[in-house]
Amino acid sequence: MTAVKTAMTVPAAPTSEAAPFAIRAERPSDVAAREALLDVCFGPGRFARTCQRLRDGRKPAEGLAFVAVRRGKVVGTVRLWHVSAGGRPALMLGPLAVDPASRELGLGAALMRHALTAAAARGHDAVVLLGDAPYYARFGFSAGKTAALAMPGPFERDRLLACELRDGALDGVTGMIAATGSTLAQPRSAVAATRRAA
Ligand SMILES: CC(C)(COP(=O)(O)OP(=O)(O)OC[C@H]1O[C@@H](n2cnc3c(N)ncnc32)[C@H](O)[C@@H]1OP(=O)(O)O)[C@@H](O)C(=O)NCCC(=O)NCCS
Repeated sequence: MTAVKTAMTVPAAPTSEAAPFAIRAERPSDVAAREALLDVCFGPGRFARTCQRLRDGRKPAEGLAFVAVRRGKVVGTVRLWHVSAGGRPALMLGPLAVDPASRELGLGAALMRHALTAAAARGHDAVVLLGDAPYYARFGFSAGKTAALAMPGPFERDRLLACELRDGALDGVTGMIAATGSTLAQPRSAVAATRRAA
């Protein structure tokens, strides 16, 4: 498994006259557009996916949530999340999604490279994900070191992939992948309900 090289500069430039786009940090104002994009890309069952168990009630890793913007519209998204992979600190990537009308233009690759470069620049050791190996192999992901890792729910073994940002970071790793990121603040109404029930 080849480690991703750390590069401090991250491309955010248009790729062509026909389809200029930019990658930038996700903003709070992107929420509605991003949710609509994920509904289109994954459908209503998206909250039942095993990956979602690692994101429920958590914040993405600091500085590691990005969107692709084309013609002023959010058309792509990727986030990274803190996890423990068999006791080792790692990041879980996902969801990665590009609007159907903007696919095959390199946005997915640009989001991936931007996210991995930013993660490496922040000193993270490894990234894991559930996804199609034929797509993610181009970014350095494989199932080579994930055979003894498990997810908190059903998953397809050949889709559990990893990419080391530091060579050897996942050598011999074994055990459960578990969420470790900061928790989201509960809405006041939920906090009050919890107190009343206690
Ligand atoms: C996967 C996805 C993000 C790719 O976005 P994109 O902007 O079209 O990707 P790029 O333009 O960078 O790359 C396109 C290339 O990836 C290939 N590709 C796309 N999805 C693929 C898959 N599931 N398996 C293998 N190759 C795939 C395309 O055939 C194309 O190949 P080429 O470069 O040889 O022509 C997008 O198709 C998508 O949002 N899909 C639905 C959500 C999803 O499945 N997300 C990933 C799982 S979390």
